[in-house]
Amino acid sequence: MDVRVWFKIFLIFYYTSAVESIPEKLLFASTHSIMEIDVDTRHVNVLVGHGDSFGVFSFDYDYQNEYVYFPRYNVRDIVRFRYPSQNITLQHVVNTTAKPAGIAVDSANDHVYWVNHKSNTLSRCTLDGTNVFVVFTSFSNTFMIQLDVINRWMYVGYIDNGISKSRFDLTDISTVVNFTLSTRVFCMDIEMTEQRLYWMNNDGDIKSVNVDGSDVQTIISTSSSSNEYDAICVLGSYIYYADNNKQLIMRNKSQESTATVLYTDISHINSIYKFHSPDWCIFQLFFKRLTYNSI
Ligand SMILES: *[C@@H]1O[C@H](CO)[C@@H](O)[C@H](O)[C@H]1NC(C)=O
Ligand SMILES: *[C@@H]1O[C@H](CO)[C@@H](O)[C@H](O)[C@H]1NC(C)=O
Ligand SMILES: *[C@@H]1O[C@H](CO)[C@@H](O)[C@H](O)[C@H]1NC(C)=O
Ligand SMILES: *[C@@H]1O[C@H](CO)[C@@H](O)[C@H](O)[C@H]1NC(C)=O
Repeated sequence: MDVRVWFKIFLIFYYTSAVESIPEKLLFASTHSIMEIDVDTRHVNVLVGHGDSFGVFSFDYDYQNEYVYFPRYNVRDIVRFRYPSQNITLQHVVNTTAKPAGIAVDSANDHVYWVNHKSNTLSRCTLDGTNVFVVFTSFSNTFMIQLDVINRWMYVGYIDNGISKSRFDLTDISTVVNFTLSTRVFCMDIEMTEQRLYWMNNDGDIKSVNVDGSDVQTIISTSSSSNEYDAICVLGSYIYYADNNKQLIMRNKSQESTATVLYTDISHINSIYKFHSPDWCIFQLFFKRLTYNSI
């Protein structure tokens, strides 16, 4: 079949699946454990119980080898586990000298990136924890990182500053957005279909911007300020976040939307990650190759 015909078929599939789909599972970390929730059934499973506060502020997924990676802020390391799996066993990946907060996996190049809070560095290693390399050392108050592995852009979030955009080696760096003066931000996500970044600040506002820095919007004002907004993820029409009542919330992207409580924990929720099956991720990369080939 002609590549353009394939392209159109995939274009239709891509947009309908991305806009309408809800993630198969959300992974999230509370102070005491790592859990998964089925958004449809609300069924929650504990994947990793850690009893103590390890401080898990982010996750990312290696879709080629099927591992979830996460940093443990208070332990100063990065660990991984096979997922999905009936047998969740943590494997140690690498010790970090500073406190790691944000993590991002570039499966295609076998790389794990992380940003260290306070030491303000960006580091990288291979998926097995070898070849540790400090990519950049002069950030200010970094906490978050997201990769667009398809278009190959890196987004780094600075708690009291804003979000930068660069290539994976930090070249071509620019500021996407400056956060409103005196607010602090500990979570962000990228919505790939829209090419927009979302974050929640400690005034309880969920905000968004195009990846080129245009069209900054306040999507939802929860009018509830807190220093505990650590978790947001966005997919299609829905925003998932943790509120200051230890609840995992789902809402659509309108100020009037009803907040649906998916789950209530006994401790604070520090991160949320939308999990798609590896097939979905590979499909996105395949789609991108077709796009390049046909333009
Ligand atoms: C679970 O996985 C670990 C590490 O991969 C392995 O050592 C262990 O034997 C597995 N346990 C079961 C019950 O399969
Ligand atoms: C990582 O840290 C742990 C605990 O401090 C230590 O036991 C282990 O040997 C370290 N591993 C490496 C590869 O440095
Ligand atoms: C962010 O603030 C800096 C310093 O005030 C300014 O130079 C820059 O243009 C701003 N960038 C954006 C995207 O607003
Ligand atoms: C968002 O949810 C509200 C109710 O919670 C509903 O009235 C509205 O139509 C929804 N908007 C979209 C775009 O789905």
